[in-house]
Amino acid sequence: MSPTPVITVDGPSGSGKGTICRRVATALGYHLLDSGALYRLTGLAGSRAGLDPADEAGHAALALRMGLGFGVDAKGEERVLLDGEEVTDRIRTEQAGNLASIVARYPAVRAALLERQRAFAQPPGLVADGRDMGTVVFPEAPLKIFLTASAEERARRRYNQLKDKGLSVSLADLSREIAERDHRDASRTLAPLVAAADAISLDSTGVTPEEIVARVLALARGRF
Ligand code: C5P
Repeated sequence: MSPTPVITVDGPSGSGKGTICRRVATALGYHLLDSGALYRLTGLAGSRAGLDPADEAGHAALALRMGLGFGVDAKGEERVLLDGEEVTDRIRTEQAGNLASIVARYPAVRAALLERQRAFAQPPGLVADGRDMGTVVFPEAPLKIFLTASAEERARRRYNQLKDKGLSVSLADLSREIAERDHRDASRTLAPLVAAADAISLDSTGVTPEEIVARVLALARGRF
């Protein structure tokens, strides 16, 4: 039996991975892994349990046993559950993203989430969104994309996303936070944000999501 086809999409915050992955998964009828959500949920579970952000073992224990739920509501909006409780908006704030990138540096947390992420690879296929999908979690994936966009465009997209959700943020603060988070993600020793040697780099600056999706689907057609 051939293994389940996996498409990995890695890249920095705001490069458009979430939108692209969701659309590619829908077009192919594949499952979706939003690995960033797992790190965000680990951070949230830790703060709910009153853990110090520096508590690696405590966060790893929660990463192993926290109850996950992913789905869409009647309006087609994503819904994320932590231990049965709806936390979608809670995990999408910049604060939750920053906490996620702190706990994501811990080897024990990454190890705890490894098999949980691999378990998402179910027939007929998986689109995996993250930072280390092509390098660490699914190194054998037949199609690996590394999605980038200019720092300005990534900050602007994030700003618009948060504004749409009714959250008030300043573009300058957001640009600074994104730069800090990118630096933390790219400079950590374990599973840093880096393109796999066999990844295809796509730059989404000034390109519509439709065009990127069409590119990925064309690449997938050639491989699966
Ligand atoms: O993609 P998202 O912004 O939701 O990810 C939140 C944080 O989780 C990232 O900044 C990164 O530190 C961490 N992360 C990771 N490895 C992944 C996905 C996310 O370290 N595969």
